Amino acid sequence: MKLAARISRISVSKTMAVMEAAIKLREQGIDVVDFGPGEPDFPTPQNVKQAGVRAIQADFTKYTAIGGIKELKKAIVDKHAREFGSKYDVSECVVNIGGKHAIFNIFASVVDEGEDVIIPTPYWVTFADIARFVNSNPIFVPTRESDGFRLTVDILERALTPKTRLVVVNSPNNPSGAVLDDAEFGKIAKLCHERGIYLLSDECYSHFLYDGRMPFSVASSTELKSHIIIAGSVSKTYSMTGWRIGYVLALPEIIAAIVKLQSHSTSNPTSISQKAALEALTGPQESVGIMLAEYAKRRKFVLDRLRAIPGVKCAEPGGAFYAYPNISAAFGRGGIKDSVDFSARLLEKAYVAVTPGEAFGTTDHVRMSYATSMEQLDKGLKRIHEFMGSL
Ligand SMILES: Cc1ncc(COP(=O)(O)O)c(C=O)c1O
Repeated sequence: MKLAARISRISVSKTMAVMEAAIKLREQGIDVVDFGPGEPDFPTPQNVKQAGVRAIQADFTKYTAIGGIKELKKAIVDKHAREFGSKYDVSECVVNIGGKHAIFNIFASVVDEGEDVIIPTPYWVTFADIARFVNSNPIFVPTRESDGFRLTVDILERALTPKTRLVVVNSPNNPSGAVLDDAEFGKIAKLCHERGIYLLSDECYSHFLYDGRMPFSVASSTELKSHIIIAGSVSKTYSMTGWRIGYVLALPEIIAAIVKLQSHSTSNPTSISQKAALEALTGPQESVGIMLAEYAKRRKFVLDRLRAIPGVKCAEPGGAFYAYPNISAAFGRGGIKDSVDFSARLLEKAYVAVTPGEAFGTTDHVRMSYATSMEQLDKGLKRIHEFMGSL
C-alpha cells in the first residue's frame, strides 16, 4: 500500500517494542519486572484530581481558546518567572496536549525542510523522529560518557553547520539523567543567539534534580530570549501523564504560529485537564517534594546495585528517573552482540524489561526507569546481577 513519504520516514518508538514483548510475557502469567516505562508510578495528587472533577461538575466541558485558557497561561508564565527568573508575557505562552505535542508543534513551526537539527546523544527518541517527519536532517552529536553525557559548548560549536536551524537540549536528560552545568547551558544559549539558531530546551524533568541542586531554566538569560524556546509539561512533575497538558514559552510570533497549527489540528487542550493543570501549578506543591525524595532513594539504591555488578558501569544521573548503565562487558558473551540483543535476552531469560540504548542513539547502554517500587527494583536488579553472572 502506498503511504505518504513523511510517515515512512518515522518508525514506531523502539521503547514500545520492549513494552509489547513484556506485555506478551505477562499475558502468559510470567512475573516480569518492567524497567521500561518513563512514567511516574505515583497517583495524580488529590487536589489536582479534585480540580478536574470540579471542572466537569461545573460544565467546563466545552471548547476553550485554542492556545489554552488565560488563567493557565498566566499560571505557567508566573511560576516560570518565580522559579527561574524568566520574563514571559501571556502572549508568549501556548498550552499544548502534553510536552510531546509542544515539541512537535515547535519543530513544525520553526524548522524548514532540508535544515539541520542538532540532537546531542543519547537523546529522547521522539526528537529524531519529529526531525525526520518535518523532513529536516537530525545531526546526532555524541556527548562523552566520562563527562556524564553532559553537552558542552565546545562539543556543540564543532557540530554546528551553516544549515543548522535548531539545537535541542533536554536537561535533565532522558535517557541518561544528565544535567547540564548551569553556566555551560548559558554559554550554549549565547552561542545559539550569536549564530541566529533556535535553542529548544525541553524542561519536562526540570523539577527532578538530586543532591539539593536547584531547578534551572536557560530562559533566566532573558537577554537571549529571542532564540530560546522552552517546552514544558505537567506530566512528570505532577504525575499527570494521562491528562495531557504541556506548554511552549517563546516569542509571540512562534506562539502565534503554533496556535495557527493547533487551530487546524487538535484545537484546544482538553478543558478539564487545563483546570487540573491550573491547580497543579498554583495549588500546594508538597507532592513534588515527596516524589523527588522517593526517586532520590531509588536512584541511590539502583546506582549502588548496578555498580556492584562486575563489568557494569553507570554514569551518575543528576536528574529525571532513569539510569543508563553501560553493559558492553556482556557483548561477545553468551552470543550477545549489542544492547538490543542484551535487552531481548534479559527479558527472555531473566524476565526483566529494559530499553536498549539503540533507541537513544548509543550502542553500549540500556535504559532503566526507576519510576517503580523498591520491591520491583530489588527483584529486577537481583535478576540482572544473576543474568550477567550466567553469561
Ligand atoms: C524528554 C521528554 N520530553 C518530553 C516528554 C513528553 O511528555 P508528555 O508528552 O507526557 O508531556 C517526555 C516523555 O516521556 C520525555 O521523556
